[in-house]
Amino acid sequence: MTTVALPQNNNGLNGTLTVPGDKSISHRSVMFGAVSRGTTIVDHFLFSDDCLRTIAAFKALGVPITTNNEQVTIEGRGGFDNFQKPTHPLDMGNSGTSTRLLLGLLAKQPFDIKMVGDASLSKRPLNRVIEPLTQMGSKITAQANNFLPLTLHVNQKLAGLEYHLPVASAQVKSALIWAGLQADSNSHLTEKLITRDHTEKMLHQFGGTLQQSGKEIEVSPQHDFQGQHLYVPGDISSAAFFIVAGVCVPNSKITLKQVGLNQTRTGILDALTKMGAQFEISNRSTDSEPAGDITIKDQPLHSLTLTQADIPGMVDEVPLIVLAATQAAGTTVISGAQELRVKETDRIATVTQELQKFGADIEQRPDGFVINGGTKLHPADQPLDSHGDHRIGMMLAIANLIAGGAGQLENAEAINISYPTFWQDLAQLQA
Ligand code: S3P
Repeated sequence: MTTVALPQNNNGLNGTLTVPGDKSISHRSVMFGAVSRGTTIVDHFLFSDDCLRTIAAFKALGVPITTNNEQVTIEGRGGFDNFQKPTHPLDMGNSGTSTRLLLGLLAKQPFDIKMVGDASLSKRPLNRVIEPLTQMGSKITAQANNFLPLTLHVNQKLAGLEYHLPVASAQVKSALIWAGLQADSNSHLTEKLITRDHTEKMLHQFGGTLQQSGKEIEVSPQHDFQGQHLYVPGDISSAAFFIVAGVCVPNSKITLKQVGLNQTRTGILDALTKMGAQFEISNRSTDSEPAGDITIKDQPLHSLTLTQADIPGMVDEVPLIVLAATQAAGTTVISGAQELRVKETDRIATVTQELQKFGADIEQRPDGFVINGGTKLHPADQPLDSHGDHRIGMMLAIANLIAGGAGQLENAEAINISYPTFWQDLAQLQA
């Protein structure tokens, strides 16, 4: 366990920053690169613990992958049939995205594959993927049909699937797209709510086809993808820490360069806009994954109401919206967010417990929060704890800046899961 002394606010956050590459897109770039023909080069890749798990898994499957600074080069296997049997279990660490997407991608292999993960990942539900994959013909044995460790058994055949996803989850959707590409007939998926569509966009970028309309997705069998040269935009989920800091820490003005603005991910910007915040977006790119520079400064906020339909577009940013809501005038109510209970930690519990150490007025509900805003946070009266959850750790670092005063963060190493340069980037904005 690493405990760090949290940086204190001196005079706001100021300057320009390029945040690291998007985690979801980085994972998928390795996956598409691995099954494509030829070489894939990925620039501005996120070299974080989670994404390194995906790279390690494909290396174990015999895919040549080299890394250099922020670039990854993948020599594709030209389809799904040319992997090697790993000599050891694939260790997914803390990475839910690696685990769930690979369950679909590896659902039809001529050998058994074992997967293991850390203590937190081994408590996160997998039946949401195992159940539909089993309907397709995949053979998976997992602890209580739901948890790591698991074995994906030899399987020669996958059938197309007609499926209404019972949870709004891009990980489940993506796993089923990967399996659907290897099935012997079309699959039709209906999402509960629209979730991040990076898999669908990247499939087109690599030369594949997919029919999509709103929540309906039709996947046809295909395996002929062509390697690409990609640039990963900045991760809006990482930028979000500085966006909320920029709004809530007095005397701040920050520009975040080339942040991904995929419209299935910009819920944090929509929520802050509804809370009365204004920001400027410039230098917009119109790539398959759009991006732009976001400029934000400190300003007053008012409360808002979020319901289930709002959550997928900001699912990883809800802890930050709760923090912003503590500073907003009025009462914020967030409902329909029960998925937060099965993230890296039970984020409804950990956010409430940790922010209460600053005197925040938050009540947890089974599916969300009630936050009485306008509270002047005081320095934390006990050590803060990430609980091993990267996003909780970083949110607490921002809360500590808002509260003023010194603070200690326990289990700070979790931040490496998605943002290994977080402390340097924060220091740069404080310089
Ligand atoms: C992700 C989807 C989301 C998100 C996670 C990354 C992805 O999970 O919370 O950090 O890359 O598909 P769910 O799909 O389970 O909501």
